Amino acid sequence: MNSSLQKAIAALENDLTIAIPTETVYGLAGNAFSEKAIHTIFKLKQRPLFNPLIVHIKSITALDTVAKETPDAAQKLAEAFWPRPLTLLLNKKSCIPDLVTAGKVTVAVRVPNHELTLALLNELSFPVAAPSANPFGSISPTSATHVSNYFKDQLPMILDGGECAKGVESTIVGFKNDQAILYRHGSISIEEIEAVVGKVILNIVSDHSPSAPGMLSRHYAPSTSLLISDNITNSINTFSDKRIGLLLFQNTISNSTVDYQEVLSKKGDLQEAAKNLYSALHRLDEQKLDIIIAESFPNFGLGKTINDRLNRATK
Ligand code: TXA
Ligand code: MG
Repeated sequence: MNSSLQKAIAALENDLTIAIPTETVYGLAGNAFSEKAIHTIFKLKQRPLFNPLIVHIKSITALDTVAKETPDAAQKLAEAFWPRPLTLLLNKKSCIPDLVTAGKVTVAVRVPNHELTLALLNELSFPVAAPSANPFGSISPTSATHVSNYFKDQLPMILDGGECAKGVESTIVGFKNDQAILYRHGSISIEEIEAVVGKVILNIVSDHSPSAPGMLSRHYAPSTSLLISDNITNSINTFSDKRIGLLLFQNTISNSTVDYQEVLSKKGDLQEAAKNLYSALHRLDEQKLDIIIAESFPNFGLGKTINDRLNRATK
């Protein structure tokens, strides 16, 4: 076993909070049964206590350690997708601290698809709670460098698993009786979910918190202002006296007033665009621009997820 994996196991067993890689984004991880570790996560992230955490388990066989019951639709989805970026909201067992679920009766659970983190989970006797490893409201990290830029000396370790293969967070699905409900667009498209369980009801709230409706819609945001535009040329003209950065799907734009451009997928592949989205936003944010003008993406498949994140990044 490699030494960084051993170090990560020891840290988590000692109630410490570390950063771990997943296929979606890096997570700020702690023992889900340890109130000390969970408190540290909330504190580091400056996350309000009413916003619950996702619990990571090693495989579908560990589901009954955290969930009280699994509706048929949830079972089908877990079998179809895990370990892929799908999070299920299920009634929690009492061993999951209320702190993790922010007092909710449901727990968010997923099996991450990352070799290193699966190896880690296999060595642990507890599930791992891990929100994205970014300060509350800012862009999620898709590399160890992003995490270190945010938290520098505040973490005992960052388990470096390379660049995240998917680049946007997991899709979140809950259930009412046996009906699937989509709470967050994510790395698995709604079309893929519907192919397994039929029509899904949409319940995309600001941040899944009935206690704070509308408060948290600005999320995943760079510090530079971001504007979504259906007519890039017009928008460039409007801001021609400003330092402009563009976030584009396939093609660069030739216009001398533009200072910086990011293209997410030259071949027009939405999966590739999703993978590159956050790293492009991190780079755009480093250019000292006045404004980022983003193209709106085709509204299907992962294009929906990208549009959702761009909308939350506007201010
Ligand atoms: O891909 C991912 O899901 C990443 C990686 C690290 O696994 N994690 C992630 O966690 O995105 P986080 O905390 O940044 O986002 C989790 C979302 C939050 O918006 C939270 O409100 C929601 O899941 N959530 C967690 N538990 C919930 C519950 N019981 N009911 C409703 N929403 C819940
Ligand atoms: Mg997050």
